[in-house]
Amino acid sequence: MKHFVGIVGNNWSGSRNRQLLQLMKRRYADQFDLTLLETGDLPLFSQDIETTPSPVVTAFRDQIAQADGIIIATAEHNHSIPTSLKNALDWCSRVVHPIDQQPVMLVGASLGPMGTVRAQMHLRQILDSPGIGARVLPSNEVLISFSGKQFTPEGDITNPATLAQLDLSTQAFMAFVG
Ligand SMILES: Cc1cc2nc3c(=O)[nH]c(=O)nc-3n(C[C@H](O)[C@H](O)[C@H](O)COP(=O)(O)O)c2cc1C
Repeated sequence: MKHFVGIVGNNWSGSRNRQLLQLMKRRYADQFDLTLLETGDLPLFSQDIETTPSPVVTAFRDQIAQADGIIIATAEHNHSIPTSLKNALDWCSRVVHPIDQQPVMLVGASLGPMGTVRAQMHLRQILDSPGIGARVLPSNEVLISFSGKQFTPEGDITNPATLAQLDLSTQAFMAFVG
C-alpha cells in the first residue's frame, strides 16, 4: 500500500480542493492512504526564520519527505496559485528539500470554466525550480470547473465524466510512482 500526502492548496474552511482530496482519500482507499496537509497552518516564510523553523513547518516537511508521492489540490487565485500554497512550497525550497525527486500529481477545482488551468500551469513551473525539484506527472490534467455545481453538500462528485477524468489520472499517477 502506497502512502501519499495531499497538500490542500487553499486555506479556508469551505475549500472544495480540500473536499477533492478527501474524496480521493475515500475513493482510492484500496490503492493508497492519503494524509491531508494544511497549508494555512504554516507561518509566512521569511529568510529571517528559515534556519529556525517552527515545529509545524518541520512536521509538514517531514511528512512530505516520508511519503511515496504527493497530490496537490490547488485553487486558483488571480490566475495563479493561492498564497498559502506558494508559502508552503517556499518552505520546501530552502535549507531542506523534501519534494526533491518526489512524484507529484496535480488536481484543482475552481468556480469558473477554466478549472484552475492557469494556476496549474504556474504550479508546474514552480515545482520545476531547482529548490523544489519535483517530478510532476506529465500529460494528465484534472481540471474541475464550475466547482460550485460539481460537489454535493457532503463533498461528493456525481458527474461521471469528472470522476472518469480523476480515475484515469490517478491510475496514471500510480504507474508513475511505480
Ligand atoms: C482572491 C480570489 C481570487 C480568485 N481568482 C480566481 C481566478 O483567477 N480564477 C478562477 O477560476 N477563480 C478565481 N477565484 C474563485 C475560486 O475559483 C473560488 O474561490 C474557488 O472556490 C477556489 O477553490 P476552493 O474551493 O478550494 O476555495 C478567486 C477567488 C478568490 C478568493
